Amino acid sequence: MASLAGAGLLTASVIWLSGGAPVWPKQSNLQTPPPVASDKPDPSPLTFKNTTRVDEEGRQIVTNPADVLVLVNKTRNLPPDFVPEDLVAPQVRFPFTAHEPRRFMRAEAALALEKLFAGAEADGLRPYALSGFRAFERQYAIFAAQVQRVGEAEANRTVARAGQSEHQTGLAMDITSREVGFTLTVDFGATPEGKWLAANAHRFGFIIRYPEGKEHITGYSYEPWHIRYVGAEIAQYLFTHSLTLEEYFQQKYGFGVD
Ligand code: DAL
Ligand code: ZN
Repeated sequence: MASLAGAGLLTASVIWLSGGAPVWPKQSNLQTPPPVASDKPDPSPLTFKNTTRVDEEGRQIVTNPADVLVLVNKTRNLPPDFVPEDLVAPQVRFPFTAHEPRRFMRAEAALALEKLFAGAEADGLRPYALSGFRAFERQYAIFAAQVQRVGEAEANRTVARAGQSEHQTGLAMDITSREVGFTLTVDFGATPEGKWLAANAHRFGFIIRYPEGKEHITGYSYEPWHIRYVGAEIAQYLFTHSLTLEEYFQQKYGFGVD
């Protein structure tokens, strides 16, 4: 299902974007690992050097897009053609019935999301999942539409450029509720579902990726709805210490906060 779904979406959006003639992103060396320095052993498992390479336009492209801990942000791009291989639709509540790619997450994250929903429901709440996986081309279209509405700088405070969205990793899901009309709004943070998510997401391996007050670090304004799977151990650590993923990488590996 994963490859079919990904391919279907990519084909559709590529054709749409190019007005009928399929145009694919540049493919050169996208999956080639960077050279590893051989003169001395790497003291840590992750370094800025071994998780990025520089493309022809000078952008940093992550070389570990399928890692559960991949750090994607305004300076660390995903390869344009990256589509996770294990996308599945979590069996959770959505406010729509269509079987669309935005239902999908990577298998491990989908399972964790099902547990998170079960936990919320056990506490009497009714969260809804709204938007998970988005291919590069879909993110491109969403960003372009937002630029038309509010201009480029304002758009990039809330919407990632293509290649810079965690939604392309299959590890993120936007959560909403009936109370906010199934929209993505800061008001969600003050609803019972939003408060529960902030207090409990870490128990299921998720973090609130763009917390209030950390805009200068994450590059995005507060998004109480956007959760990112990182695994239970790291989610617990980030929650306990009120850290963003950028700060965690900075602390542990010496890069991440630019
Ligand atoms: N809203 C987040 C930043 C995204 O577009 O991925
Ligand atoms: Zn999101």
